[in-house]
Amino acid sequence: MRALPASHMPFPLRLHEHLPLRTARLVLVPLDLSHLDALAAMLADPVVMRHFPRVMTRVESEQWLRRTIDRYQQHGTGLLAVLRADDRGGRPEFLGDCGLQVRVFGGETHLELGYHFTRQAWGHGYATEAARACVTLGLRHGAMAEVVALIRPENGASQAVARRIGMRPRGAVLHAALVHDVWHISAEPIAGDTLQ
Ligand SMILES: CC(C)(COP(=O)(O)OP(=O)(O)OC[C@H]1O[C@@H](n2cnc3c(N)ncnc32)[C@H](O)[C@@H]1OP(=O)(O)O)[C@@H](O)C(=O)NCCC(=O)NCCS
Repeated sequence: MRALPASHMPFPLRLHEHLPLRTARLVLVPLDLSHLDALAAMLADPVVMRHFPRVMTRVESEQWLRRTIDRYQQHGTGLLAVLRADDRGGRPEFLGDCGLQVRVFGGETHLELGYHFTRQAWGHGYATEAARACVTLGLRHGAMAEVVALIRPENGASQAVARRIGMRPRGAVLHAALVHDVWHISAEPIAGDTLQ
């Protein structure tokens, strides 16, 4: 079973029962309104958003955040806040978002990996570490035999993340009126499974 007809998805998936996700350097928690400032700054950065149709205003980011939070209830999964785990005292640094969301395309319902990281967080392996933890969770507990990622053919950095965790490309779809390659990984090998 790679994917399911939209009407047959076993909602909610209950992946949120396994949060927070902890890795060597990160903790992944549900997004909430306390993350809005950092999230809005990231989604307003034209470099972060260069493979998306456009940057988001703060109002759009808040709407996006509220929709994401609503979907936690509906789907039992969704994009998470990625925070540095080793901050002593103060507020943990927001590095980005990463998680598994429900996406319907080609008449089927898929579990889709997504991520955005702040520019300051690039180049440290955080995205790969977070993505690997999310995919491990999804394949262990998601009731789906596969996780997919929709990645623009020009987005080399995102392709590299997908490749590092063992995903492979398979075909393409139109999403948001843009061509995206479909990357996938099934339950067998999860390269470098380090979920704690
Ligand atoms: C996609 C995105 C998250 C990738 O970020 P990234 O920093 O390249 O990926 P990682 O966090 O996994 O870091 C990997 C890099 O850190 C380096 N690195 C440094 N320290 C490291 C460590 N301790 N462990 C692992 N890697 C480390 C790796 O060598 C690699 O460098 P390279 O790119 O020069 O090969 C980022 O480009 C982004 O947020 N883009 C905008 C949003 C976006 O396009 N999202 C995807 C939509 S499909």
